[in-house]
Amino acid sequence: MDEKVIIFDTTLRDGEQVPGCQLNTIEKIEVAQALEALGVDVIEAGFPISSPGDFNSVVEISKAITTPVICALTRAVKKDIEVAAEALQYAKKKRIHTGIGTSPFHIQYKIRTTPEEILKRAADAVKYAKKFVEDVEFYAEDAGRSENEYLARVIEAVIKAGATVVNIPDTTGYCLPEEYGAKIRYLKENVPNIGKATISTHCHNDLGMATANTMMGIINGARQAEVTMNGIGERAGNTSLEEIVMIIKSHHNLKLRTEVNSKLIFSTSRLVSTLMSMPVQSNKAIVGRNAFSHSSGIHQDGVLKNRENYEIIDPVEVGIRESSIILTARSGRAALKHRLELLGFNLGKEELDDIYHRFLLLADKKKEINDEDIRILTGEVFQGEKSLKLELLQVTCGKSAIPVATVGVKINGEIHTSTASGNGPIDAAFTAVKHLISKTVHLEEFLIQAITKGSDDLGKVHIQVEHQGKIYYGFGTNTDIITASVEAFIDAIAKIK
Ligand code: KIV
Ligand code: ZN
Repeated sequence: MDEKVIIFDTTLRDGEQVPGCQLNTIEKIEVAQALEALGVDVIEAGFPISSPGDFNSVVEISKAITTPVICALTRAVKKDIEVAAEALQYAKKKRIHTGIGTSPFHIQYKIRTTPEEILKRAADAVKYAKKFVEDVEFYAEDAGRSENEYLARVIEAVIKAGATVVNIPDTTGYCLPEEYGAKIRYLKENVPNIGKATISTHCHNDLGMATANTMMGIINGARQAEVTMNGIGERAGNTSLEEIVMIIKSHHNLKLRTEVNSKLIFSTSRLVSTLMSMPVQSNKAIVGRNAFSHSSGIHQDGVLKNRENYEIIDPVEVGIRESSIILTARSGRAALKHRLELLGFNLGKEELDDIYHRFLLLADKKKEINDEDIRILTGEVFQGEKSLKLELLQVTCGKSAIPVATVGVKINGEIHTSTASGNGPIDAAFTAVKHLISKTVHLEEFLIQAITKGSDDLGKVHIQVEHQGKIYYGFGTNTDIITASVEAFIDAIAKIK
């Protein structure tokens, strides 16, 4: 039987520490519910002493969530622990996460005390937390740069004081995977009472090694991984939930498992990204836009012959409908033939050669070849809403104003206009566009990114719409983000066959 690795999600605590990503209580509840559906074991809901807002969020999340343990962070300070216990009063399953720095840096320069005093304060904090809850996790802050021998003494003392979980954070993301793995092994082999607690990893990504370090921790005996969705967190972020879950799922030889329903990974990733206004980088493992798209000819040919030639994970396993083959100047005949077939063209060799030649000429001028381009290449005259183009956009919005938008869209050479209201300018404009088209579309993803810094920046919008079970992508760029959004929406709709 595979051994379980506990997934401790700290998106709402360490993840939320990212500047500009703060959520309100309602949004935090929405994320917590998505994490519960995803199947995480522990949700770190906040740091209650840090602000009344955080306190309130822990209270409300405790009320809203049933299955996962709700955890609240504290320092090794009595008042913090009391406030955390109060915030957790409604949690069905609760945990206090208390701790203190154990590295020479933290002891000498941050806390300005002695190692013996730290040891006492650590054990006292755990004992005090035990008065309120049974489940107490202890973190040895900056354990990554702490001396193993001293760390082992601290861990032994806190387990004696009642800690159920001992967290070994690589707070600064400094450790090498070998080094972090050896640290966990050292604790397993040298802390006499280690069998009474679960060892937890908590790695930061400053050197891009958070996932590797976490895996080395697990391989060496840790059975809880502290992670965030999309790897968000302080500085370069924390270990990504999706990476750990999919590594464990893909490497059967590790004989490990998690309770996460991987098919909900993509939707949870997008929910967190949208609510936190934190776009996921395109090449992000598992959840990036390009994680399952293929653009080089050799790879496209290989994937079309057998997906597993170039994909170690079936995208369906993480909630993505299918791998995508992006047609560019590097695409080969096989990819073009495949796309033509999807569009309903079954061509003979000569016809295919001819279209492929014209395809390459066009691809040299245009980054990506879309379905409409292919139809033009085949000489087919498109019937219906072929070239949609935004010609006019007028929006009224602002505080206390009802958002209203008028759009003018060129459809097959003729301009049609429509006016609609909505809960914001974008909703109003999208509704007005929908009035002009005959197809039913659902907005699946909507992402606005600034290209550089500054209020005069260009806004870049990515959109995904769904029509009859298929996804269509649209892009728009403009200094006016509402215009960019409507252009992206129209771009996606124009791609519908
Ligand atoms: O990185 C860290 O050390 C932490 C602790 C507070 C657990 O986030
Ligand atoms: Zn951290």
